[in-house]
Amino acid sequence: MSDHQFTKQSAGAESEPKETFVDYNALDAEARRILNLNDRGGYTVPTDGLYPYQWNWDSAFAAYGFAQFNIDRAWQELESLMAGQWASGMVPHILFHKEDARYFPGPDVWGGVGPIPSSGISQPPVAATFARRVYEMDPLAGKERMSAIYEGLRRWHQWFLKWRTDENGAICVTHPWEAGRDNTPEWDGPLKRIDPVGVGEYKRRDTSHVNPEMRPTKFDYDRYIWLVNLGRNLDWDDAKLKEANPFRVADPTMTFLLLRAHRDLQALGEALNLPTDGMDADIALLEAGARSLWNPKLQCYDAKDVMADEWAGCVSSASFLCWGAGIENERMVAHFDRVMQAVKYGVPSHDPHSDRFEPKRYWRGPSWAIVNYLIGTGMELSTDADVRARGRALAENTREAIAKFGFAEYFDPLTGEPAGGSTFTWTAAVWLGWASPTVKG
Ligand code: GLC
Repeated sequence: MSDHQFTKQSAGAESEPKETFVDYNALDAEARRILNLNDRGGYTVPTDGLYPYQWNWDSAFAAYGFAQFNIDRAWQELESLMAGQWASGMVPHILFHKEDARYFPGPDVWGGVGPIPSSGISQPPVAATFARRVYEMDPLAGKERMSAIYEGLRRWHQWFLKWRTDENGAICVTHPWEAGRDNTPEWDGPLKRIDPVGVGEYKRRDTSHVNPEMRPTKFDYDRYIWLVNLGRNLDWDDAKLKEANPFRVADPTMTFLLLRAHRDLQALGEALNLPTDGMDADIALLEAGARSLWNPKLQCYDAKDVMADEWAGCVSSASFLCWGAGIENERMVAHFDRVMQAVKYGVPSHDPHSDRFEPKRYWRGPSWAIVNYLIGTGMELSTDADVRARGRALAENTREAIAKFGFAEYFDPLTGEPAGGSTFTWTAAVWLGWASPTVKG
């Protein structure tokens, strides 16, 4: 039970049901405190210690969280993220503003080639989606600042379309960390094909911050590092890496979220009278790519190992990002209900009915408030009122998990037990913008 929750029981009435009161204002204040606590001056770290740098999609969530009480700071967050953009258009998944020995692999291992020391891969492009949200909260305050980052966001999306599409227009990841879902079972097949020769000895730092049972295994980590070494040795040259990298997976996270983000960027372009040429065609391609991720055997959106031409065979939380992308499918509603019925706090990152489900291990089972936000707000856009109702119910389910168990990195979906890091930026942001009952509108 968190500090902000207490149980009231009338004196002497033992048989009376207990009523639980939650002090939502105190939770709002705590969420704001966490954002300020993790603010390093213009950029925000996901949580102190475990993740001491600026992460790409965390930062976009942080901007949204700040926008609830400090719109100027929200724009600053997006600006500091875009300041790390490479000449190729890529926006890195980590910006190493200030070296910190508590994290591995650091800037020297990555050897990124951008204006700020960085990693060499990207992350789910949700920045345009949050930029739109922040802009729409106060168009006057945001007009110039949005216009200033618009072209960078467009170039980033173009980079995905140029270097990360498969033959159908689905977006591929080239490292498990790129989808932001590090150890999801979708990567098991392609990772098994990698022999991590020469990766040598290295010292993981994550397992000194968090229980190793909640983190990826050594098998996975060896391959993560092997892939980083491959990229660094090729100076992160996109063309060379496309030839040499054995890990290329068409991924629902990237495909659905880029489609959502591209629609948002186009809307911003139209609102601000900025160039939107070619965007209709991009959207049509991404829609085709999104539909191509339908695994007919599984009857679900799934990841596909492009190198082996094999489906992952996974119902994961990423499958449910379809609604946000404007892709509706009745079978997905049935999957959603089946998965949610099996847990107390959804959405589990992996199908609880699968033998690969592990309720505490990171992306192999735990529920993440940020994924709930992306799924739930997507459902709320549906043309079907029953789907919209599920989206709202998911916000309430997320509210309950956070109110009871705090601003954790992720939650055990069966019990709600908080897992991973604590005082987490993006969980606080999701609280302030979506899950708290005090959110307006
Ligand atoms: C982990 C997560 C990733 C996130 C990062 C920082 O690597 O898998 O999605 O961006 O931590 O919070």
